[in-house]
Amino acid sequence: MNVSDTEIVNSILMEDGMEPVNEPEDAEVIFVNTCSIRDNAEERVWNRLKEFKALKREKDGDLTVGVLGCMAERIRDKIMEKEELVDLVVGPDAYRDLPKLLADVDDGRKAVNVLLSLEETYADIKPVRRNDNGVSAFVTIMRGCDNMCAFCVVPFTRGRERSRDAESIIDELEQLSNQGYREVTLLGQNVNSYDDGEHSFADLMYKASQVDPEMRIRFSSPHPKDFPEELLQIISEQPNLCNYIHIPAQSGNNAVLERMRRPYTREQYLDLVEKMREIIPGVTLSTDIISGFCDETEEEHKDTLSLMAKVKYDLAYMFSYSERGRTLAERKYEDNVPEEVKKRRLSEIIEQQMNIQEELNNEEIGRRHLVLVEGTSKRSDEQLCGRTDTNKMVVFDRPDHIGKGDYVEVTISDCTSATLMGDFIKKSSIKEFSQEKVAV
Ligand code: 5AD
Ligand code: SF4
Repeated sequence: MNVSDTEIVNSILMEDGMEPVNEPEDAEVIFVNTCSIRDNAEERVWNRLKEFKALKREKDGDLTVGVLGCMAERIRDKIMEKEELVDLVVGPDAYRDLPKLLADVDDGRKAVNVLLSLEETYADIKPVRRNDNGVSAFVTIMRGCDNMCAFCVVPFTRGRERSRDAESIIDELEQLSNQGYREVTLLGQNVNSYDDGEHSFADLMYKASQVDPEMRIRFSSPHPKDFPEELLQIISEQPNLCNYIHIPAQSGNNAVLERMRRPYTREQYLDLVEKMREIIPGVTLSTDIISGFCDETEEEHKDTLSLMAKVKYDLAYMFSYSERGRTLAERKYEDNVPEEVKKRRLSEIIEQQMNIQEELNNEEIGRRHLVLVEGTSKRSDEQLCGRTDTNKMVVFDRPDHIGKGDYVEVTISDCTSATLMGDFIKKSSIKEFSQEKVAV
């Protein structure tokens, strides 16, 4: 989401006549786009600000520094008081105000706009994508969140839920397709609730699938409490809607889920997973897990391990609980699982997940996949890398005349817990590959 927001900020600033530079040393203005989701995300920002403080000193004060995003909402006073370095603090709904705020700073004042909006979706702004691979893009379809999970600061920093109109989203997808993008991830804190007055999320996904049959569509993130089942059918029917679903569980224990204000049970969650696998054969799943939430017992922790063992996720984002100010959990419960217990439980969760991933990846050996080439592999110029429809990274030897943005068929030959290795078969397309699959 922050990557996507930065692309919106790029656009607003460049419209105002500013030009991006690649090195902080060359900049007259530096914005840090921040995240408040966990304490370590905020720690990273404080460290980065320290670096810029040194740079400002070197430049004899000739540098403007702004803090954007969620931290601006959460701790604007602390930022302004403690960091005399920071000139601007601007929240996620106030980016249109940046040119004016920059002008205020020019007069030597400090500038703040952390107003949250009920309407702002930046629908008309054309994001400037400077740092992506030219193949995969993010497109924000909604902002904010009304779910109020007990642990989560997002409803406080990003405000109320609102959906961008489908027409502007589809226009953007058309432009991306014309620019050569081959994969788009539709983004929202809670995409199930997408509703622009005319379209549901399932409607939007269907419309998105029709823009360009050779452009893959992914999305993040849905909520298990009201996942639209109709969407499963649409995914199974449209070859360019990817067979991969990120479906955050957070915990495998009902009492913890209740304390977290996640209104579903372990059993309902498992039923949903079963339905996903029934309707979309071969679908891969990933999840988010929080370990060590308030009052979590050893038994409750074991339920999370057992849920993960049962589902066998292809990928998991696993965190230890980090208390956030203003959330229900902070007001109602004590953050009482000791740090070392949180750490130990998290490492048990991670270790089990790595084993499961290795096992699942081993099962991939011998299978044929359609891979969208994203670029050269990190390890060697002689190898390319890209993702399967099911979101697994595949590395393979670079054939002649194949590059970024091409679809290729590969057979999986080897793996680690994180990556598949493949043998190139031929250049292909979504259409060709899906017809071959039907023929098989
Ligand atoms: N502590 C740890 N993890 C959190 N997440 C959200 N809030 C917290 C928190 N306070 C995780 C959830 C969410 C993901 C984006 O971040 O798992 O799904
Ligand atoms: Fe946070 Fe829950 Fe909203 Fe996700 S759904 S952003 S975890 S409040």
